[in-house]
Amino acid sequence: MDVQLTVNGETTRLDVEPRRTLADALREDLGLTGTHLGCEHGVCGACTVLVDGAPARACLMFAVQADGADVTTVEGLQDDDGGLHPLQEAFVAHHGLQCGFCTPGMLLTAAHLLETHPDADRETIRAEMAGNICRCTGYQGIVDAVQAAGRDQSRSST
Ligand code: FES
Ligand code: FES
Repeated sequence: MDVQLTVNGETTRLDVEPRRTLADALREDLGLTGTHLGCEHGVCGACTVLVDGAPARACLMFAVQADGADVTTVEGLQDDDGGLHPLQEAFVAHHGLQCGFCTPGMLLTAAHLLETHPDADRETIRAEMAGNICRCTGYQGIVDAVQAAGRDQSRSST
């Protein structure tokens, strides 16, 4: 089936089987391997991408369901010069990374959270990010990073 997607600002057409997941289309057809696959059944959040601005599990969505949509993957978070997104910098500074497997999904969930609730408190951050599982960090550093990035964002917008 013919599918048209805008991925990280670039419009592309793909010919996919009806059952091809969005995750496989991104990773295997478009080479965007920053979208990770863990459980492959909607539980871990590693495959989270933004579809029309909202977080979605790319392992649960068929590529054909994203026809005409605007998709953002972790590769799309970098700035025009290829520099790290402020959230990525905050994850580094606040020790939100260990193996990094969960990180792309965490970053996209956090990007949406800060877009909608830049002043989110720790409780809100934990609740909003509860669908993203990390097996390494214990979450403290991740929450610290998201909160710090939110503070910086609020400061720079005033
Ligand atoms: S790989 Fe999609 S939710 Fe785990
Ligand atoms: S940093 Fe290893 S799973 Fe989260």
